[in-house]
Amino acid sequence: MMKRLDNLLVNSGYGSRREVQKIIRQKKVTINGEVVNRPAVHVDILKDEVCVLGEKVVYKEFVYLMMNKPAGFVSATHDKFDRTVLELIDDEDKFLDPYPIGRLDKDTVGLLLISNDGNMCHRVLSPKRHVEKKYFVKVDMCLNSSHIEIFKDGITIDDGYKCKPAILNILNSSEEESECEIILTEGKFHQIKRMFEAFGGNVTYLKRTKFCEIVLDENLNEGEYRHLTDDEVNILKSI
Ligand code: URA
Repeated sequence: MMKRLDNLLVNSGYGSRREVQKIIRQKKVTINGEVVNRPAVHVDILKDEVCVLGEKVVYKEFVYLMMNKPAGFVSATHDKFDRTVLELIDDEDKFLDPYPIGRLDKDTVGLLLISNDGNMCHRVLSPKRHVEKKYFVKVDMCLNSSHIEIFKDGITIDDGYKCKPAILNILNSSEEESECEIILTEGKFHQIKRMFEAFGGNVTYLKRTKFCEIVLDENLNEGEYRHLTDDEVNILKSI
């Protein structure tokens, strides 16, 4: 598999693109023992041995990112009409071809995981694993304790599907609007919006705040992302 030398070093933790280009130009990098000074040279990551100051570079196979998804972007890698969350990812992080793990609607904001670890992705999205997802919701209706019971029992949505039990926690409620948190263990298309539609309500704001035990980093503004910590990656790998 051929990769650009500078991308490879960025992804292996040797610094930003600008920093690795500098160390390449300073002739600190060798490919199969030969000094190189062109950052754009291509390397076969299966065959070539790359060293920085004599230390062998260990290639990273996977990338794990957490994004605070903004509204107006679709959870896809390509789209004919809309901007995609991948457009918000820097080239050096795109190099391993990550993709969104599951989908948030175009107008939903909050925690979106992005990775290229296909096995992990398959496991965390499997309905058998019942991975919990937590959302903050604003809805244009009055919520009361009877709704909590109906969510717990399982709401039947427009196509006749009876949702799995969900936890509804009402934060505040008036005649016109309520704010609440919901924990789901499944992810049907537009599920939360359709759950409230079953009561005649419209969701006016939807934000995912937690995925499994991974909590949205409050330091991330909408549109920003960061690499997962080792602990967060281990949470995903243990699912
Ligand atoms: N439920 C929805 O309706 N939309 C989302 O993006 C996620 C859950």
